[in-house]
Amino acid sequence: MAKYVAVAGKGGVGKTTFTALLLRQIVKNNKDISILAVDADPNANLNEALGLKVTATISDLLEETKNPKAIPTGMPKDVFVEYKLQQTLIESQDIDLLVMGGPQGPGCYCYPNDLLRKYLESLGSNYDLVAVDTEAGLEHISRRTISHIDTMFVISDSSARGIRSAGRVHDLIKGLRSAVGEVYLVVTKTSHDSLDLLSEEIEKTGLKLIGDIPIDPLVTELDLEGKALYSLPDQSQAVQSVQKILEKTHLINL
Ligand SMILES: Nc1ncnc2c1ncn2[C@@H]1O[C@H](COP(=O)(O)OP(=O)(O)O)[C@@H](O)[C@H]1O
Ligand SMILES: [Mg+2]
Repeated sequence: MAKYVAVAGKGGVGKTTFTALLLRQIVKNNKDISILAVDADPNANLNEALGLKVTATISDLLEETKNPKAIPTGMPKDVFVEYKLQQTLIESQDIDLLVMGGPQGPGCYCYPNDLLRKYLESLGSNYDLVAVDTEAGLEHISRRTISHIDTMFVISDSSARGIRSAGRVHDLIKGLRSAVGEVYLVVTKTSHDSLDLLSEEIEKTGLKLIGDIPIDPLVTELDLEGKALYSLPDQSQAVQSVQKILEKTHLINL
């Protein structure tokens, strides 16, 4: 069965950077692994970090299927929706990607939501690992489009406000009960004394700190050039920090 990993936290803290680097390291450590990355942040940009081009998002396609005229005559709606969902998978050599897309418009979406859940479940079972870059609200997990997460990383930047926000995400996770297994805090964009200065705030969140990622000039550079983070060199500080974090989790033995 696929292991599910998710990366959560408020916007701008470094979730997508961490997700891309985590996947980079998992591929490095397990050459034959099959990975499905799911971009569940409405402000989707995981594809850029991974160097993949998005052709269609799930939201776009579900929107299309709402128009009765779009359904070929004689085709049952659920068959049509499933056929459309299959077209949203972006395949590449190491990692396949699904992009959920922006929030859906008004009206009841129970029907596609149910199909989406089933589709994600059956698609996910084809992979060794499913990695979800999610938003702070954890909407897809609370709505159960993604039914469980084995390992959750809550990301905070190096600010007291960021850590408090990570604490709120932790509360949300606790509210999801059994849906989430191990939960870790990762502090990003740190400088030499960040963790000392933040230690009191970190303790208050009840989260287990698994490691930090220093500010890495190479990450800033690639970001400025709009290049994939996946192409960072092994010596990059960010890459080495993510490798250290990976080694402390079960994800090292997939
Ligand atoms: N370790 C790091 N060093 C330098 N810049 C970073 C680091 N981690 C993230 N960033 C920068 O912070 C910004 C937000 O990162 P991103 O991963 O897109 O956050 P999120 O997905 O949480 O919105 C980006 O400009 C990114 O390049
Ligand atoms: Mg992001």
